[in-house]
Amino acid sequence: MSAIPSISSLSLSSSAKSRLIVALDYPSAPAALELVDRLEGSCLWFKVGLELYYAAGNGLIETLRGRGLEVFLDLKLHDIPNTVAGAIGSVTQAGASLLTVHAGGGAAMLAAAAEAALRPGAPRLLAVTVLTSMDAGELRGVGVMDTPQDQVLRLARLAKSCGIGGMVCSAEEVGTVRSELGTEVVLVTPGIRSNGDAIGDQRRVASAGEAIQRGASMLVVGRPITQAKDPAAAANSLLAEIDRAGDPALH
Ligand code: C5P
Repeated sequence: MSAIPSISSLSLSSSAKSRLIVALDYPSAPAALELVDRLEGSCLWFKVGLELYYAAGNGLIETLRGRGLEVFLDLKLHDIPNTVAGAIGSVTQAGASLLTVHAGGGAAMLAAAAEAALRPGAPRLLAVTVLTSMDAGELRGVGVMDTPQDQVLRLARLAKSCGIGGMVCSAEEVGTVRSELGTEVVLVTPGIRSNGDAIGDQRRVASAGEAIQRGASMLVVGRPITQAKDPAAAANSLLAEIDRAGDPALH
């Protein structure tokens, strides 16, 4: 398995390819692999989320790994500590490089997850802070009166204190989380939209260039690539944007 990028290796010189994760939000392995075929050569990282994992399981992760691709397994685990630790054990040998748990599961759950992820072959954990589909009104609806920014920062700090070195947050908070938690944490940002893209169910969005400039280590992009007429062209244009944003001459 190749090394998981840390921000030090992702700072200004790392390749755009190691920073773009394509979300395979498809209902079956054949549908997902059709897109992978179209992007092979351009993209290295693919995200397997709930829809695809429930349909295709660990077998698909092994297939992607067999093609030399990196897998981000986005299961957003959120359960009691013992169950989350067991779930991490069940996917440990599948070959995913990154796996998500919900930071909202609390300190005991996060610590149990971090411990389970110490086993050889386990994926590196990312803590999901506040879903990029939630705005302040949605948060109030579940009893969180703080702003998304404050809640993201609270959960990111909690995850880090429990031994989890990576977080998922939107481009709206990534700058603050980066400056508060430093350069060692891996920050993964979904909700990437260019001018003219449909926002869909996302709420806290920004362009790829903005997210990188604010401190994102890696970006997750789904529909702007998967629904594009030419997915490879869409991916290549995002890769070029990431390259430009990571160019020290621009800072
Ligand atoms: O299609 P789109 O670019 O909106 O896809 C974003 C992907 O990132 C989806 O697969 C979604 O599950 C995931 N994600 C997210 N917000 C989070 C964590 C993951 O949108 N906080």
